[in-house]
Amino acid sequence: MNETVYKLLVPYKGILAADSTGGIKKRFEAVGLTFTPELDVKYKEMIFTTPSLEQFISGVILNDTNIRQRVFNNNGIVMGIKVDEGLEPFNNTEEQITKGFDSLSKRLDEYKLLGAEFTKWRAVIKISDIFPTDIFLDETLSKMAKYAKLVQSKDMIPIVEPEVLLDGNHTTTRCAEITEKTLKKLFELLLLEGVDLTKVILKTNMVLPGKDSNVIAMPLEVAGATLRALNASVPKEVPGIVFLSGGQSADDATNNLNEIVKTKGDSPWDISFSFERALQVEVMKEWAGKDLPAQAGENIPRAHEAFLERLTKVSKARMGEL
Ligand code: 13P
Repeated sequence: MNETVYKLLVPYKGILAADSTGGIKKRFEAVGLTFTPELDVKYKEMIFTTPSLEQFISGVILNDTNIRQRVFNNNGIVMGIKVDEGLEPFNNTEEQITKGFDSLSKRLDEYKLLGAEFTKWRAVIKISDIFPTDIFLDETLSKMAKYAKLVQSKDMIPIVEPEVLLDGNHTTTRCAEITEKTLKKLFELLLLEGVDLTKVILKTNMVLPGKDSNVIAMPLEVAGATLRALNASVPKEVPGIVFLSGGQSADDATNNLNEIVKTKGDSPWDISFSFERALQVEVMKEWAGKDLPAQAGENIPRAHEAFLERLTKVSKARMGEL
């Protein structure tokens, strides 16, 4: 197995996604803070210096700003970088296509010099009665396949992240159908592009009912639906699948991961996590202070404790041992 892939998929550990640029502003606001670049650096330094973080985290995904600020300095953890530049409207519809390919080659060279060993590119797939359209899926996933090929040509590991959104009132069955269709298309395009599937990590959503459907799916049901979709679409050559949390609560994401790993049977790939929100919601809340005043920084020991508590649970869930 490729060395970076091996390090990322080591047992009991997973990937800490810390790359959001829009979402993090909302999370700051939710705990009574106004996002500033200075406060962002303080927050990131706080999470990255959590004692024994490397016992639970194999890799961290940074964003373009943070990697250049060199906020991350932990030799025991592999450094990765989000390389897409967000979304833009597709054909004047509500579908949004990923941007950032034009400047990608040059940026990859810079990120490599800064120490990145792996990269992430996210596509967003919205579910409704009419979405996703076939033309959209084809376009956005073709870009993703080209990204993966380019990253491999620079000797880094691409994470491909086609995220089928939790937003909407769709059923679990509809989510399963779209997830399976998306992944089948993605792997068809990756092969067409000549991407080496043994040097790719898939980051994907769990199969869930839409957030506005008012349906609560139990972990066993989520695990069954998710594994059926993955078994139908992800080639066995792919070494690992890591889940995003997608707006689930920290406990739901953790418990669902645990059940997926527990029931994966002889599915060929390793399964782990690459959560952002589900890992960070509690540590952020403690850091900013539970109540007012929100003097970020005074609460670092409590914040580290909250983070370690969640990391311990997710690490067990990643082994199906929760
Ligand atoms: P969430 O776990 O918050 O969904 O974030 C994962 C991620 O990297 C989204 O791109």
